[in-house]
Formats: sequence, C-alpha cells, structure tokens
Amino acid sequence: MADTTDTKSSNQMWGGRFASGPDAIMEEINASIGFDKKLFAQDIRGSIAHATMLAHQGIISAEDRDKIVHGLNTILSEIESGNFEFSRRLEDIHMNIEARLATLIGPAAGRLHTARSRNDQVALDFRLWVKEELEKTEKMLTGLIAAFLDRADEHAESVMPGFTHLQTAQPVTFGHHCMAYVEMFGRDRSRVRHAIEHLDESPIGAAALAGTGYPIDRHMTAKALGFREPTRNSIDTVSDRDFAIEFLSIAAITGMHLSRLAEEIVIWSTPQFGFVRLSDAFSTGSSIMPQKKNPDAAELVRAKTGRINGSLVALLTIMKGLPLAYSKDMQEDKEQVFDAAESLELAIAAMTGMVRDMTVNTARMKAAAGSGFSTATDLADWLVREAGLPFRDAHHVTGRAVALAESKGCDLAELPLADLQAIHAAITDKVYDVLTVEASVASRKSFGGTAPSEVRRQIAFWRARN
Ligand code: ARG
Repeated sequence: MADTTDTKSSNQMWGGRFASGPDAIMEEINASIGFDKKLFAQDIRGSIAHATMLAHQGIISAEDRDKIVHGLNTILSEIESGNFEFSRRLEDIHMNIEARLATLIGPAAGRLHTARSRNDQVALDFRLWVKEELEKTEKMLTGLIAAFLDRADEHAESVMPGFTHLQTAQPVTFGHHCMAYVEMFGRDRSRVRHAIEHLDESPIGAAALAGTGYPIDRHMTAKALGFREPTRNSIDTVSDRDFAIEFLSIAAITGMHLSRLAEEIVIWSTPQFGFVRLSDAFSTGSSIMPQKKNPDAAELVRAKTGRINGSLVALLTIMKGLPLAYSKDMQEDKEQVFDAAESLELAIAAMTGMVRDMTVNTARMKAAAGSGFSTATDLADWLVREAGLPFRDAHHVTGRAVALAESKGCDLAELPLADLQAIHAAITDKVYDVLTVEASVASRKSFGGTAPSEVRRQIAFWRARN
C-alpha cells in the first residue's frame, strides 16, 4: 500500500481533534509497526470474528460484514505475499490494516471499529500470538523429552559418576542422569499447559476499558477465536499482561534448565572429561587450533538464557508501576516476548539436536565413575547392614579406609582384605561385592533411584505420558 498521508496532516485514524501531525521524534517513539506487524494474522482473525459478531447482532449490515471480511482476507494475502507496505505514520498493525481496508472497501471499513478499541484489540492479538507460541513450545518440549527418553533407554545401564559440588559423589547411570532432565522439561511442559489454561479467555469486547453499550455477544467471539470463554472484567482485560509475563517466566525457567544441560555438555565434551563427543553438526572448529571441536551451540544455549531472563525482568519492570487500565508503556511488551520466544525455540531445537546426536563414551564414564572413592557410601552401608554398625560409626570407619587408599594411591576395591580388617575386624571379603560401580548402582533400587531397573520403570512412566 502506498503511504499517501501528508506528514503535516493529523492522523487519519484518531486525528479529529488534532490540528497538525506529530513531531518526527513523537512518531518514532510512538510507532510499534516495526515489531507488531508480526501480529497481522491474529489481528485479521480477530477482526473477522468481531465483524461477524457485529453483523449477527444487527450492529452492522450483512453487506458491510461481507465487504469487511473480503477486504481483510485480501489484506492477509497481501501481507503474506510481501505486497503490503507498512506505514510508520499509521503507528501500529491495527491502524495499518484498517487504513488499507478503507482504501480497499471504502466507508464500510469505518464500521469495523464499532464496539471495540485498540486496547482490547491488542490484548486479543497478543494473547492469540502467545497462545500459539505456548502450543509450539509444548510440542518442542515433547520432542526434547522424547530425545532424552531414547538416550536413557540406550544407557539405562551405563555407569557414570554422579556429582555434588562437581566432585565425584556416587556412581549413577547415564540413563538416570538423562531422566533427571526429563523430569525438569516435563515440569516445564506442564507449566506451559497451565499457562495456556490461564490465558484461554477472550479479551475482545472489553473495548477501551469499560465495556460497550452496543449489544455485542462476547461469548460468540470467544468461541469463534477458540477461547474457552470471555474475560470477566473489562478493566483487567485491557490492563493485564500476565499471560506475557507467564510466558516469559516459563521461558526463563526452561532456559535455566537448558542452560544447566548446556553447561554439562560443555564440561562433558572437554578432552579432560571426554564423556560425550558432539556431532559435527552441532560443533565448530577453531580457525587457528586445528585440534579443537568447540561446543558453540551449547554455549549459545547457555547465553540465550541470559537474554530470556532480561526480557522477563524488563516486562515485569515495565508493568510494575502502571495504574489501571491501559497505558502506552504496555506497547513495550511485544519485543520482549518476541525475542524471548525466538531464543527459546532456538535453544530447545539446538538442545534436542545435540542430545540426539552426541556420542556417549561409556568407557570414559565408567572409568571416571570408579575414581574418587565413589563407592565409599556403599562400604559404609555394608558396615551398617552386615556388621550392625550405626551409620555414624560406619561413616568414620569408611573415612579411614578412604584415607588409607588415598595414601596407597589405589581404589577402595583394590585395598587388600587385611588392610580393611585392620581398620575394622568385622569386614569380610563379601565387602568386595559392593565396592564395584555396577554393584553400587544396581543396589540403589529405591523408588526414583539410579538402579537400571528403577530407571526403566521411570522411562516407562514417561513414555506413557509423552
Ligand atoms: N500499539 C498499541 C500497543 O501495542 C495498541 C494499543 C493502542 N492503544 C491506545 N490507547 N493508544 O499497545
């Protein structure tokens, strides 16, 4: 569409009481079209539902409705095919579309804005957009969980060191470690589902803030737009951005989980750890050091999280001091959400690819699992179980065995029986059964524990829910 508005004349949409047009800086600070054009499809959908309802209620004629709907569909294809000229002077997506409608269908276009305001219009468009994004996020998380379930299945028996303080703690299985992420992303996905439930109310018809005197049917528009029901308070409706903040907070929590995983992948893929090898598809080389394979994708996932957190804090801060109902501050909600959504999508997609593609070095993991006296707790538990020692005493005895092994430069399982018996007479050669990493792992059959049988139970639980 050619932008024919004269710079000096007042705005053709709301300029009735204005003698002249805005200052250039005013126009620049005021316009949102640069980013809210992303909402074009939602805006058109909302307007079609609104016009249809207006005609159904006898507020506009069926003839005007047909012109409006036809015109809006034309605009939709113009925008989709890149044949629409957005104008900054028309401020935002709502007025760009309405102005084009006027050019296409004439005076009937002016009837579309009956019984609504840009305040409920933008609340609608943005809600629809966030709802779709949440639905996309839900699917992507399901894909990530599926990738982890496959890796967990494959490695239900592969032993690796479990860490606390990033110090070797007790042997676990790699499958169990994968399932920890399944739990995290499963919770993220259920947060997404709750958020969809929370925002599933239609704002359109709240009008500027007080509702309208026209006999509209908000239940009809709610239904047509796929919402469960209309919102119940018109003031809240135009001033609420909880749905966007909720999306950002879920993105931040999910991002935090992704970032922890990214950090682990960075550590695991160092030559020092060597637990995993990233595929060529998800790593890069160095321009100067030919031996290097860098986990750039994981590092960028870690970084995206910072960006998402920034968006959450930005929108919380934008909203915190606003009196009810709408204030223009709220226009700043969109870029935060758009940017966070893009970061989150990329991060989940990259992580799903890395998890699916990475090669797991089970030999390195197993060797590391046995180092650092990782079966010390198993020795203590054996002393409690077989020799009847109180756990505190068993802990002390085990500590002495660890100190001895350390001074000899060997593992607990390599200490001769005589040495162990010198520390505590009740120790027999049966103790060696629990000092291997496999025995340690297999013994932890408590619900949610690391034993392969338990890991498989949890995999089955999640397979049935994914
Ligand atoms: N572009 C505006 C926004 O994103 C639309 C709503 C404008 N409403 C108003 N009363 N000026 O918030």
